[in-house]
Amino acid sequence: MCGIVGIVGTRPVAPLIVDALKRLEYRGYDSAGVATVEQGVLDRRRAEGKLVNLQERLDSSPLSGTIGIGHTRWATHGAPIEVNAHPHFSSGVAVVHNGIIENFRELRKNLEADGFEFSSQTDTEVVAHLVEKGLRDGLSPEDAAHQAIQQLRGAFALAVMFDSDDNLIVAARSGPPLAIGHGEGEMYLGSDAVALAPFTNRITYLEDGDWAIIRRNDLAIFDTSGQTVSRQQQTSVGSALMVDKGNHRHFMIKEIYEQPEVIGHTLANYVDFNAEKIALRDMGDTQNPLEFSKLDRLNITACGTAYLAGYLSKYWFERYARLPVDIDVASEFRYREVPLSENGLSLFISQSGETADTLAGLKYCEESGQRLAAIVNVRESTIARSSHNVFPTLAGPEIGVASTKAFTCQLSVLASLAIGAGVQRGHIDEAQEKELVRALAETPRYANEVLKLEDEIKELAHSLANKEHVLYLGRDTNYPLAMEGALKLKELSYIHAEAYAAGELKHGPIALVDEEMPIVVIAPHDRIFEKTVSNMQEVAARGGNIILITDPKGAAEVGMDEAKVIVMPEMPEIITPIVYSLPIQMLAYHTAVHMGTDVDQPRNLAKSVTVE
Ligand code: AGP
Repeated sequence: MCGIVGIVGTRPVAPLIVDALKRLEYRGYDSAGVATVEQGVLDRRRAEGKLVNLQERLDSSPLSGTIGIGHTRWATHGAPIEVNAHPHFSSGVAVVHNGIIENFRELRKNLEADGFEFSSQTDTEVVAHLVEKGLRDGLSPEDAAHQAIQQLRGAFALAVMFDSDDNLIVAARSGPPLAIGHGEGEMYLGSDAVALAPFTNRITYLEDGDWAIIRRNDLAIFDTSGQTVSRQQQTSVGSALMVDKGNHRHFMIKEIYEQPEVIGHTLANYVDFNAEKIALRDMGDTQNPLEFSKLDRLNITACGTAYLAGYLSKYWFERYARLPVDIDVASEFRYREVPLSENGLSLFISQSGETADTLAGLKYCEESGQRLAAIVNVRESTIARSSHNVFPTLAGPEIGVASTKAFTCQLSVLASLAIGAGVQRGHIDEAQEKELVRALAETPRYANEVLKLEDEIKELAHSLANKEHVLYLGRDTNYPLAMEGALKLKELSYIHAEAYAAGELKHGPIALVDEEMPIVVIAPHDRIFEKTVSNMQEVAARGGNIILITDPKGAAEVGMDEAKVIVMPEMPEIITPIVYSLPIQMLAYHTAVHMGTDVDQPRNLAKSVTVE
């Protein structure tokens, strides 16, 4: 995840900004930069790699100025080289940005037609030129920044600075968080409170859609309609931690809200948004790249939520790459003595990269001479270090025991791998790849939109609280998603929940259904929607209380009582499993909160099960 820092100060800010960026290093990055304004002159230093390289630049060529912005960049659009490092300039304007601007290509084309010259491959640079264009049209810096922000689509957080005003930073949030720190005659801006801890613990968090005008002694916040709004100023308690809960009650809900940002960063590691192609970045043995065209079988081994991500990807690998997939929980796989194909790949999925059962499965495959690949959230973990090919998720530290953002990032990697495999194996042509990649690029925005359903989902969660049993139903990729929903509810609220393939219900489990039984049905209006709906009606006819998660077409067709339908935005089918994860996470979270269980540390559970 990228990191943003800004200071409207009373002292030289460059060293302060670098210190703050150091506190954002946990987010992962591959270049960094700082810009300041001094007597009407905008200047910057940028460097590839770690902050120590930026510090060397500043030591040899210091930056003065009491206002500045800084950034740690995890490359999304454009290679991790200095020319793509933030801050990005247009004459007189500097911008730092976290997230993905989906419509940057069309904006860039229009700006180039207006004579703007681009010096980077990033999406961010379009913001600087859009603001500059507003200034050229006679707008004030604040209005120029606002009109630019209104043209952006995607999930992003950003800050804008001007050579014409050394007492102004304009900030905006549409997805990834932004914290504003209140100092003594100084104001600060950061991706989270941790970055601002050296300066202040008095924090105001921007809400989604807010933009702000930040001056030394003044803060004005506006909502999407341009109305002035006030946001609560609070004391950040967790700022001593390198990762804190921000303005969230639990780590789990914070991590649910981080998903638009971290899904975007994860996808950007495997997708070239400029070229609209899959571009798998393998962090393993790149001398020995993975060639899907040479594989005749894929064997996936994992535990818990990671296993369910793998199970879901079976549909994608078999559908898009025509690659047969075997999937098993590691605790069973490791003792089954499975005969493995010599042209097979063994893939291990693990958030921690340390799960004992999964590691044991890896050892079995290693002894069988298999090619080993890993999808992990901890790059230097044992499972990653034991694998030939490594495809990291970029979820950042996941503190809540119940996995949320790691799951959707695992799905993001798996979707990219499955599409990439389909291309390599000749089953996906250029046009199909472009269409699928465009769908992936929209995932962060849809995820961000779905977070706005939280209050509605919270109400529905109250109907689950204190129930004895809950069923989750789904077909196709919605079936492993139903299993993940049931797992979330079990591990958080301790309610017994089970998932069934919707078509399987009539082979026995429907005997369980009565008017006490809530049934959560996951059914976007996809290729098998009608089938799922008929299963759902079988259940409704027996008094089952249904909660349907669908889209407007699905809701219109079913015409159920409004109170029981979560209506998701219509979206490309390939990304529904990723985005539909969010309502099932929020449903389980709010049920558990309502029941008063320990959401971040549920009873009997550990974050990483490093024992058999
Ligand atoms: C998920 O919510 C659980 N916390 C658990 O099932 C977890 O997914 C499982 O233990 C695997 O952990 P790993 O991804 O670190 O290997």
